[in-house]
Amino acid sequence: MAEEQKAKDVNRRTFLQVVASIPALGALAAFAAPLLRYLKPNLDPGLGVPQGRFPPDLIEGDLPRGEPLPIARVEELSEPWSSKFFVFTQKYPQYTPEQARAFTVPGVAIKLPWKVRFPGYREGKEPTDIVVFSRICPHLGCIFNYVPDWREITAGYGGYMPPPERRHGLLGCPCHLSIYDPADRDLPGRVLSGPAPRPPRYFVYEVRNEVIVVTAVEPGGIA
Ligand code: FES
Repeated sequence: MAEEQKAKDVNRRTFLQVVASIPALGALAAFAAPLLRYLKPNLDPGLGVPQGRFPPDLIEGDLPRGEPLPIARVEELSEPWSSKFFVFTQKYPQYTPEQARAFTVPGVAIKLPWKVRFPGYREGKEPTDIVVFSRICPHLGCIFNYVPDWREITAGYGGYMPPPERRHGLLGCPCHLSIYDPADRDLPGRVLSGPAPRPPRYFVYEVRNEVIVVTAVEPGGIA
């Protein structure tokens, strides 16, 4: 009987030892996985896309960032604070081993009553009164709104009261109430309120035959 009890105790101890080692094994696996992944990358060197599998419109050394997209005729945005919404298809071939996976980025073009230096228009060198922003919030990626009437911002976005010189169309995120000023003269898209760490990403655009054509979006993630 004593022998039987002893055997039971040994089995129990072994079982407890195995159970106790599970977290340690898990931690080891979590530590080793990125190292193993590093040793076997899924991208070929060079452009970062699998060799011999370029999508048709990708010329070596020239990574497309999206198909040019006509979003509005200039005359459609003739009134100050008028706007146009659109969805741009962005390609990230450098980040996608499965070739040119496309992402859609909702955007908004806004006509301002004054000109600002906007980084997406002729590289920010020439002032423009049309600004074009991604609507993906730089905080945590919600899609934010363009709110032409600032009173709606005050009523529905956490009670932010803009100072008199900013009582005009603003951008407001419903998730955590970040507010942006698309018409800030020094930094279009400036964060006025809320947790957003930076202005929304801008679109690069040009005007071709009186049509606003978006060609790319500012690189980078949401924040
Ligand atoms: S996601 Fe927009 S404020 Fe948080």
